[in-house]
Formats: sequence, C-alpha cells, structure tokens
Amino acid sequence: MTAQVIDGKAFAAKLRERVGEFAATFAEKAGRKAGLAVVLVGEDPASQVYVRSKHKATLAANMESFEHRLPADTSEDDLLALVARLNADPAVDGILVQLPLPDHLDEQAVIGAISPDKDVDGFHVTNAGRLAVGQSGFVPCTPLGCMMLLTDRLGDLSGLEAVVIGRSNIVGKPMAQLLLDANATVTIAHSRTKDLPAVVRRADIVVAAVGRAEMVKAEWLKDGATVIDVGINRLPPEPGADKGRLVGDVDYAGAQAVASAITPVPGGVGPMTIAVLLRNTLVAAYRNEGLNLPEDAL
Ligand code: GUN
Repeated sequence: MTAQVIDGKAFAAKLRERVGEFAATFAEKAGRKAGLAVVLVGEDPASQVYVRSKHKATLAANMESFEHRLPADTSEDDLLALVARLNADPAVDGILVQLPLPDHLDEQAVIGAISPDKDVDGFHVTNAGRLAVGQSGFVPCTPLGCMMLLTDRLGDLSGLEAVVIGRSNIVGKPMAQLLLDANATVTIAHSRTKDLPAVVRRADIVVAAVGRAEMVKAEWLKDGATVIDVGINRLPPEPGADKGRLVGDVDYAGAQAVASAITPVPGGVGPMTIAVLLRNTLVAAYRNEGLNLPEDAL
C-alpha cells in the first residue's frame, strides 16, 4: 500500500480563495475591509519570512494588513502600549504578535494584553479556556488546520483512536481538545511517555508535533493510519549544499508504505496555518461588526 498524500497546499489555497470571497462580501456590508495587524519585534530571519508571507496573503484575500516592525530592544511597556492601541483601533479585527519574542519580553504578558476578541492566534488564556469548555472563541491556527485536513479526509472521527505527540500550548494541547470535541479517543504523548512506539501503534490518527526530525518511524504505525506531520525540521546540509532538506517529525518515506494517508513536509500542514489565520481574522471581523457569517462558511 502506498499512502495517499494529503495536499495541504491545495487545501489551503482553496480556503484562502473562499476567505477572499467572504472578505469581499464583508467589505461591501461593513464599508471597510477586515484588518489584520501583525507585530514583529526584532529581526529573527525565519520570523521575517513568516511576517512577509502573512502580509502578502492578507492583501491577496481582500483584507487590510497593518505591519508593525519594532526594534529588538523595544521595551515591554512600549510593546504593551502598541497592543493597547491595536485593541482600541476599529480598523483592526485581528492582532498577531509574532513569536518568539526577544528574551527580555514576557510572552505570556504580551499575549495576555491582546483583546481575546482580536486574538486570532487563539493563544490568550481566555481562548484556551473557551476551547477547553466548548465555547466559541479562537482556536490556534495550526491545530485547526490539521483538523480541517483530518475531517476532509476521514469525515466523522467518532470513536477513532488519536495519538497526539507533543503537548505544547500552541499545537499539542489544542489539537487534543479539538479531537476530543470530535469524539475521538485521545492520547497525548510527550518526551516522558513510556514506550512511545506502542502508544503510537494504537492510533488510527497520529498527529506529530515534537520538532524532532523523522523521529516517528514507520514500524510504529498501525496499518492504514492517517498521519498528520506538524514538524518542520531542517537536516544538516549534504556535502556541497548550503542548506539541508526540510523534513517533518515522521519518517515520510517509510510511513508512506504503512499509512493510508500522510501530509508531506513541506506542502502539508505548513500552508494551512496562514490560511486559517486569515479565516480567523475574517470570523473576528464579522463578529466585531455584529454581522452574520454563515455557519460552516469557512
Ligand atoms: N511563530 C511561529 N508560528 C507562529 C504563529 O502561528 N503565531 C505567532 N504569533 N507566532 C508564530
């Protein structure tokens, strides 16, 4: 058996297109475009790449993009003052502070200062709490994107065994909540889990989000499992190359022979994150204007 490739890139492109159509409708109804503010502190090269692609994708989806680039030595007071201005700005529907922040800034304090109703990353404790108790709020983009790929592929997840490897606040924990809401039987595995291969072998659904190159082996997988690989790891360069290959947390070549479907890296989960960010921003805009976005529209 060769696993089907779950084409996150194509799925994300369709989602961005649908968001763009609803964003155009929003602009007509509201008399303004939906707006996303992105704050970048410092010059981390990877973050600069992400922020640039968010900016371009936001404009392409018929939304307004407000970029705020601050120097690496920005004080916490100045950053909090900017967040307060964005909270109060009616043109701004969503606020994203790019992580990681420089070491002298307290990430939890900064995220906690964002209005939960503009927290399109879903990182604020209020949104984490809403997700935990089943109230509507904002769900972190990467796990929500994984969930869209899974339900598109499998339909009803009721009763399926899901194993999430990784327990971060950004991916592992919200992923587990979403799978639980979808009536899967959920296990969260992590670095202290005993006999991880045996735990993974139970899974109909494996979500790998540990950040360790090719850690999950083909022999660990149950025949026919669906594998979602959240990892993006760069291998050391081959001799003569200046950059190593990008790989996920799963041994892709091996897993392809065992799984029924798997997301590639790159081109799987990665492209979903920005598409869902735009989706969350549009949902925020409709809510902020008291307008009705059809249920299940996005
Ligand atoms: N850094 C890497 N991914 C993300 C993300 O999804 N949101 C934020 N705010 N920072 C990130």
